[in-house]
Amino acid sequence: MQKITTRLREVTTALFTERLDPGRAAAAVFLGIFIGIVPIYGFQTLAAVALALIFRLNKPLILASTFINNPFLQPVLVISSVEIGFFLRRGSYHPFKFSELTGAHMRDDLLSWFLGSLVLGVLVGGVGAFITAVVVHLKSPTNAGIRDRLRLVNQAFAQSANSDRYFVWWKLRLDRIFGMLAAEDLGSGTVVDLGCGCGYSMALCNTAFGEHKRRLVGCDLNARRIAVARQALSSLNAEVSVEDVRHFELPSAGLILILDVLQYLPADEQLALLKRCCSALDPQGRLIFRAHDRERGIWSSITLASDRLLFSCQRAGTRPLILSAPEYRRVLEDAGMQVETRRFRNRLPLAHILFIAKRPFAETAP
Ligand SMILES: C[S@@+](CC[C@H](N)C(=O)[O-])C[C@H]1O[C@@H](n2cnc3c(N)ncnc32)[C@H](O)[C@@H]1O
Repeated sequence: MQKITTRLREVTTALFTERLDPGRAAAAVFLGIFIGIVPIYGFQTLAAVALALIFRLNKPLILASTFINNPFLQPVLVISSVEIGFFLRRGSYHPFKFSELTGAHMRDDLLSWFLGSLVLGVLVGGVGAFITAVVVHLKSPTNAGIRDRLRLVNQAFAQSANSDRYFVWWKLRLDRIFGMLAAEDLGSGTVVDLGCGCGYSMALCNTAFGEHKRRLVGCDLNARRIAVARQALSSLNAEVSVEDVRHFELPSAGLILILDVLQYLPADEQLALLKRCCSALDPQGRLIFRAHDRERGIWSSITLASDRLLFSCQRAGTRPLILSAPEYRRVLEDAGMQVETRRFRNRLPLAHILFIAKRPFAETAP
C-alpha cells in the first residue's frame, strides 16, 4: 500500500511540475483558455489533453485553464463572443438576447458566437499567457537568487540621492546584463570595474558568493558618479577613483569588468586595454566586457543610434567606435585566453555581445 502511495505521489509531482518554464507554462495557459472559450462543449477536456500531448505541455495547467468556462463566467464569455462576432461580421454590435439563440436567427447567431469566441479566446488567452510567463519567471528558483542579489545592490544605494537611486533601480530592472552576470561564475579575488560609473556592477559581483570582503577596485572619468559609488560602496571593501582607464594601474584581479566603455576609446587603445587586462588576470581569472553586436540588422542600428545620442548628450566629443566581434576575439585569443561569447538582445531593444575571456591555469614548468 505504501508503495502505491509513494508511486502516486511521484506521478502527481511529475505531472504538476513537468515543463514549467515560462514559455511552455504560458503556452499551456493560452491553449487551455482558448479551448475553454471556443464552444466545443463535451470535447474541451479531450482537446486540452491532446494538445498537451502533441506540444508536450504541462497537462494539469492546460486542463485547469479550460475551467475559465465555468458557470459564473460562461454567460459573460458567450455574450462577449456573440457581440464580437456581430461586430466582425456586421460592423456594429447587436443587443444580445439568449432567446434569439434558439429563434429564427439561430444559425446566424451561432456563427457570430463561434467567430467571436475565436477572437475572444486569443485575446483572453494572450493576457493569461502573459501573466503566467511573468509569474513563472519571477517565481523560478534561479531568479529568486538573482532577485536577492539585485535587492542587495539596491540596498547599497538606499542613501544615494533620489535620482541616482532610481537610476540604479531602473538600470537593474531593464538591463539583462545583471541577470546574466549574476548567473555566471564570477570567480574569486579582486574585482576591477573599468569605467565603473556609480559602481553597481561591482556591488553585484561582491554579492555573488555572499563574500562581503571581496576587494572591489573601480575607476571612472566622471567625478560625480565616483562620489556616488564611494558612498554606496562604503560598507564594502571598495576603492574607487577618478581615473582614465587607459592609464589606470591594474592590480592583479580575479575579475575585470568593462561594461559599455570600450566604445569611448580609439581602436588601438581598446585593443591595448584588453591586452593589459588579460595580463593582469590571476590564473582562472575572467575578463568580462560588453560590446555592440554589429550583425543584428535593425537592432544593431538602433543600438548604435542610442549610443550616438548618449555621446552627444554627454558631449563626449567623439563618436562611439565598436570593433567587430572577430577583432575582439582575436586580441583575447592571442593573449592566451579561452573566449566565450553570449549574444543577447536587451529589454530595451539593444543588441549586445558579452565576451567572457577566461585565463587558463598557469602552465607549470617542466
Ligand atoms: C555608458 S557608461 C557605463 C558605466 C558602467 N560601466 C555601467 O555599466 O553602467 C560609460 C562610462 O564610461 C566612463 N568613461 C568613458 N571613457 C572613460 C575613460 N577613458 N576612462 C574612464 N572612464 C571612462 C564614462 O564616464 C561613463 O561613466
